[in-house]
Amino acid sequence: PRPIIIDTDPGIDDALAIMLAAASPEVELLGIVAVAGNVGIEYTAPNAAALADLLGLDCPVGRGSSSPLWRTPEYAPQVHGENGFGGYSLPASERVLEPGVPLLARLIESSADPVTVVAIGPLTNIALLMAEYPETAQKVERFVIMGGGTLRDTGNATPTAEFNIAFDPEAAVRVFGFGVPITMVGLNATHQALVGAQHLPDLMASGGPAAQMVAHLLGSYSDDANADSGDTGMAQHDSLALAAVLDPAVIGTEHYRVDVENTGRLTTGMTVVDYLGRWGTPNCDVAFDVDVPRFRALLNTRLTALDSRL
Ligand code: BDR
Ligand code: CA
Repeated sequence: PRPIIIDTDPGIDDALAIMLAAASPEVELLGIVAVAGNVGIEYTAPNAAALADLLGLDCPVGRGSSSPLWRTPEYAPQVHGENGFGGYSLPASERVLEPGVPLLARLIESSADPVTVVAIGPLTNIALLMAEYPETAQKVERFVIMGGGTLRDTGNATPTAEFNIAFDPEAAVRVFGFGVPITMVGLNATHQALVGAQHLPDLMASGGPAAQMVAHLLGSYSDDANADSGDTGMAQHDSLALAAVLDPAVIGTEHYRVDVENTGRLTTGMTVVDYLGRWGTPNCDVAFDVDVPRFRALLNTRLTALDSRL
């Protein structure tokens, strides 16, 4: 299996992504590192730990950055609820959480095979890893990032900026400029990846603990991706990034250079894709196409199998 680390701000769609990873034999989950984002670190870190307990994961959980590099945090409780899980409460974990950025470095260094880092929250921890442990960060095989967007779907936090990038644009500038391969799974892709309970029939029929949590999370998750779409369900941004690691055929990508605006009057936090090839070597596989039935089937099968183990 491919060794992965998930850097995350759970977060409703983050929770589904972590469940998907836990249920998938293609990956070995080396660790989970929390970052402030959807809600504060005082929620995202305990949420990550409680979810790891629910899933019976024996990997370490880290508590990373409590705020963006420079900016004041702007959380999204309107989407994820005050506690990040739409009010769903898991038993509190008694795990001791390690400092997040040193944990990232330790896990990357101690892995026999190069690690894929799946970053599904703001990029603060990743930027700090690159600043504080540059040689370690260079050993990462690839960063698969849920963040940004292109074409019509450039933004949800602002008209041109996606939440994870808008939360900490200075971190994103550093990460996209660092030089390790990136897969960018942005809003233009994730807004196609709509999932509701109706798309997870086997899971819902199982009635187990994961099914109960997923049903609650889907019911309490509000994401306006639905508003102008004929399709129903909620955009599973973070699970799509994870699915792209498990089964690359779920997305179709094109190779471009991508940079991040952090000084624009209107466009701060925008991921700008160099379609014209003016900015030198491409640094990013940018997701455009999504095989939606394949993605939904993967979630349904994997989470159902997970539930039979819990
Ligand atoms: C991203 O922001 C968060 O609200 C979600 O968890 C996802 O990672 C979508 O813009
Ligand atoms: Ca997230």
